[in-house]
Amino acid sequence: MAYYQIQGGAPLRGIVPVSGAKNSVLPILAATLLNGGRSILHNCPDLRDVRSAIAILRHLGCRVQREGDTVTVDSSSVERWDVPHELMREMRSSVIFLGPILARCGRARLSLPGGCDIGPRPIDLHLKALQKLGVEIREEGGDIYCRAGDLRGVDVILSFPSVGATENTILTAVACGGSTRIINAAREPEIADLQDYLRKSGAEVAGGGESVIRVSGEMPRRDVEHTILPDRIEAATYLCACAACGGEITLTGAEPEHVGTVLQCLSEAGCMIQTAGRNITLRAVRRLSGLPTVRTMPYPGFPTDAQAPLMAAACTAEGTSVFLETIFENRYRHVPELVRMGAQIRVSGRTALVTGGALCGAQVRCTDLRGGAALVIAAMAARGESRIEDITHVDRGYEHLAEKLTALGADIRRNNEDV
Ligand code: EPZ
Repeated sequence: MAYYQIQGGAPLRGIVPVSGAKNSVLPILAATLLNGGRSILHNCPDLRDVRSAIAILRHLGCRVQREGDTVTVDSSSVERWDVPHELMREMRSSVIFLGPILARCGRARLSLPGGCDIGPRPIDLHLKALQKLGVEIREEGGDIYCRAGDLRGVDVILSFPSVGATENTILTAVACGGSTRIINAAREPEIADLQDYLRKSGAEVAGGGESVIRVSGEMPRRDVEHTILPDRIEAATYLCACAACGGEITLTGAEPEHVGTVLQCLSEAGCMIQTAGRNITLRAVRRLSGLPTVRTMPYPGFPTDAQAPLMAAACTAEGTSVFLETIFENRYRHVPELVRMGAQIRVSGRTALVTGGALCGAQVRCTDLRGGAALVIAAMAARGESRIEDITHVDRGYEHLAEKLTALGADIRRNNEDV
């Protein structure tokens, strides 16, 4: 298994380009099933999860090719309507294929996505919304079988602004005729990006980024060319890394507005932040001060995906910081690994109390994608050498991580376990 070897202590300096957003390219790749034609997607990051989504499209009968950061999908011949178990296990967010397969084929079979390291990850909100649209759903032997009964546009009220459930409902509603309103929809920027892609393909979707989204039941029929929006969580991760290590970095190709709550936390902790167009410059000239309560919330609140990276930075701060994880049940699995590096963190339920201090290098193991990113940040800020194992978790969501950090002056090497 691959691992990172990191020698801590170096400040980060230089320019880092932000890649396309993992959580935008995944639903848009699923949506390419709808137009029965070509979709040319630019700024597609080359990530493990993106490769999993491409494998699912190919399994369904699509032709997919990648040239640099452009992925072209031809969905003119889709012969299958199932997502096999092994591909579902690869990536639990494959459930996002349910809506588009149903809309395109009239039926779908997926194995129930397992839980993952950050919680049981149920899909009840997805299924309730699709049933409201007229989808018939049967669960049997760990699989869900769906058939598009008499689909009809209706009002769908989500009891929680679930990102995935909002996306699946949009991608099913385009096949429902009439018009659908999704009420209490997720407002994450990735929803607006999905809407942008769909409108280019001829679907009528409006309100993306707001709490009420309207979809008219017109199946998309046009070829599309689209550029994926920048990854706000990758951007947040690099900003937290520089805050922890000291120095000065400039992110290029970012969307400052999408990381507003993260920028606010980091400037409250003592970082100097400047934004200009799609560039964000962060200067960490002194030790961070402790963070007042960081409460994760649905967008535009503080993003749950940035909780672990920011906690790693808080471990180096002067004073205490409080984190309140309100989105996922079990999103503190990185804490015991940070404690192995000398972090002083006490967890009680969904609250974590972090007392800043010095970190020292250690051998640690990634538990999940964003927890793994937190370990990389802590290792770069620690004194001495760290070995971070199970970094395939990190490969799911960070493109060229070691290269980008090396370019900023970090001492990080990716090695393969001598088997
Ligand atoms: C998306 O996951 C993102 N993944 C997650 O990013 C992100 O953390 C999350 O949204 C919240 O912003 C992708 O976009 C691929 P949710 P999703 O449905 O759609 C509960 C990363 O690190 N829930 O908004 O799965 C759920 O258990 C990943 O990039 C139900 O109870 O998130 C969770 O507690 C991690 N029933 C909460 O809602 C449902 O049917 C938020 O989930 C669906 C969700």
